[in-house]
Amino acid sequence: MHRRLIAPGALAAASLLLAIPASAADYRPGAPGIGDPYYPYYGNGGYDVSHYDLRLKYQPKTDELEGTATVLATTTQDLSRFDLDFLLDVSEVRVNGAKAAYTTSGQHELQITPATPLPKGTPLTVVVRYSGVPSTKSAYGFNTWHRTPDGAVAADEPEAAWWWFPSNDHPLDKATYDVSVAVPDGTQAISNGTLQSTSSKLGWTRYNWRSDKPQATYLATLAIGKFDITTGKTSDGVPVVNAYSKDLGANDGAARASVERTGEIVDWLTGYFGPYPFSSVGGYVPNTTTGYALETQTRVYYSPKQFASGSNTSVVVHELAHQWYGDDVSLKGWKDIWINEGFARYAQWLWSEHEGEGTTQQLADYVYASHPADDAFWTVKPGDPGSDNQFDIAIYDRGALAVQALRNAVGDDAFFAILKGWPKDHAYGNASVADFQSYAEKVSGKPLAALFDTWLFQPSKPTAPSARTASIARTSAATAQPKSWKKIEAANDVHTG
Ligand code: TRP
Ligand code: ZN
Repeated sequence: MHRRLIAPGALAAASLLLAIPASAADYRPGAPGIGDPYYPYYGNGGYDVSHYDLRLKYQPKTDELEGTATVLATTTQDLSRFDLDFLLDVSEVRVNGAKAAYTTSGQHELQITPATPLPKGTPLTVVVRYSGVPSTKSAYGFNTWHRTPDGAVAADEPEAAWWWFPSNDHPLDKATYDVSVAVPDGTQAISNGTLQSTSSKLGWTRYNWRSDKPQATYLATLAIGKFDITTGKTSDGVPVVNAYSKDLGANDGAARASVERTGEIVDWLTGYFGPYPFSSVGGYVPNTTTGYALETQTRVYYSPKQFASGSNTSVVVHELAHQWYGDDVSLKGWKDIWINEGFARYAQWLWSEHEGEGTTQQLADYVYASHPADDAFWTVKPGDPGSDNQFDIAIYDRGALAVQALRNAVGDDAFFAILKGWPKDHAYGNASVADFQSYAEKVSGKPLAALFDTWLFQPSKPTAPSARTASIARTSAATAQPKSWKKIEAANDVHTG
């Protein structure tokens, strides 16, 4: 490293003498955003993270979180300074062992200036010591850290990490995780992946979790509280770990009757999407009061509210489908959200058919018929909805309708080959809607630009008969509400939160 640092100066001097342009290192600050037009300051430029090691301690009574994050990364440019996205109070930063200067800037930037500039390709070990009360911190006027009577939960989209660990907060920079959390004895800490070990000391119990496949920052989760933990295995031998708050009251039975079917549902989804991509699976139901669920990698977050009307396997199907569509293959930019939500919704439609509560075609016909041409529903473009509409119901319903239109256009053989091939083709990576279109064209051998444009990119109800789903022109019986409809809509509706 020293050689690299000395060399640029020598080169600059030499090039001055020879009057040729300097090829010296050009040290610049990393960008404060990764370049996502929906969220200009999310993520950062100048480095790429490979691993987060979080060693934390949390006191539920006071909401005090303290710890050390060790972030392993590599510089992707000659770097004079770089940002991490974070909101808690930092007491020390070290870069490759040396103390670094730091300050805060903007809404959620921790700006770090290392003692010496860093040439492109340098391995980084960034140590951040911090503490704070997450519930007191906000950015853009909001806070997604959820306190509960006996703990707290970090699970939100697209912003969740800022309240508990410093990160390059964008799905483009996926990394592996070790999350170690000490909580008062009698309390549990749940996170992604596999519980490696626990230990107890001086009234504190430490839980050590490992998520060993690339994981987007918004899919990292942490739940602290009093939980009952159950274990099992899928038929392929993947360990299942579920956790239920001991404080679910009347929803406890329905929550268990749904989430305990995780293994069975993973087996069923494997038939459509191929082998489950991670080394652990499960869900947790904390005693939160918000109404949504989230596809947090390997360990899905469910709100107790989802089980208020009895069992809800539809939401379990939706969140587990995301493990392939969203988690294994992550979006490149937040505009690509259709790849997550269109397919997770379509999985619910397949489950409806499996349960004898309405076929995918009936559900597609129902969506098409229940929104007249002047309904604002059709003004949302699922292929590029804008940040304000990122989780509009149209991303889900029109999104799944687009999937059915694709199926009708390419035929079942090609369609199911695409559904299963995609997670394999892009395993543990990132992809865009355009990448999906090319992949579908490659597998089906059909040009699909017009179909994608009609269903995902036009702010209007598709009318061209060739682009409509096959049976839409049939009798009104085809548009009767399928039995599963209300369940599917209620399953994970972020708008009922
Ligand atoms: N991706 C989640 C789902 O489909 C929904 C969601 C969108 C969400 N925004 C959120 C969940 C914010 C929690 C917080 O199930
Ligand atoms: Zn979803």
